[in-house]
Amino acid sequence: MNAGNGNSPDISIRPIAAGDLDQVIALDAAITGIEKTDYWYELFHRYGTRGGDQRHFLVGVRGPQVLGYVIGDVRDWEFGSAPCGWVFGLSVHPDARQTGLGSRLLATICDGFRRAGVRTVRTLLARDNNLILSFFRSQGMMAAPYIPLEMEIE
Ligand SMILES: CC(C)(COP(=O)(O)OP(=O)(O)OC[C@H]1O[C@@H](n2cnc3c(N)ncnc32)[C@H](O)[C@@H]1OP(=O)(O)O)[C@@H](O)C(=O)NCCC(=O)NCCS
Repeated sequence: MNAGNGNSPDISIRPIAAGDLDQVIALDAAITGIEKTDYWYELFHRYGTRGGDQRHFLVGVRGPQVLGYVIGDVRDWEFGSAPCGWVFGLSVHPDARQTGLGSRLLATICDGFRRAGVRTVRTLLARDNNLILSFFRSQGMMAAPYIPLEMEIE
């Protein structure tokens, strides 16, 4: 793939369309090793077509080629928190990385969160995922005043 520069004007960021979905599924499967077709169709219906101001599912494209995506929503009063934006999916095609596209995707979804009236964005990441951590730190994200908890319930 000739991905070029992520900041190039021939790459645009826009809401996902149905015709993008197969490429998003393939990109996620290539990165995570698991193809989750039903999951992505469900997300498309909830965030892509009926998203409104609160839900955002965006793709970075050059022509018909999907180079990356970002997904997130505004959650009101969950976890005892005032309304804020959550980013829960962000990927850039391996051939298109480190040219600014991930930054553009995050900046664009943050614009959507601002339009929805929130001024804080959060995400959750695996402790050992240094790539994602480096990326979010570079964008100005800091450790939040919340901690995740879990237990086995077999
Ligand atoms: C994290 C990710 C989205 C970054 O996308 P990107 O387009 O490469 O990001 P950018 O080019 O905008 O990089 C912005 C900053 O992030 C940091 N960064 C990006 N890639 C990095 C790397 N490989 N190592 C260290 N820091 C990195 C740098 O600080 C960079 O700024 P710089 O270019 O001035 O050094 C991309 O690497 C990716 O998709 N990774 C896999 C994500 C994943 O596992 N998704 C599935 C679960 S959601």
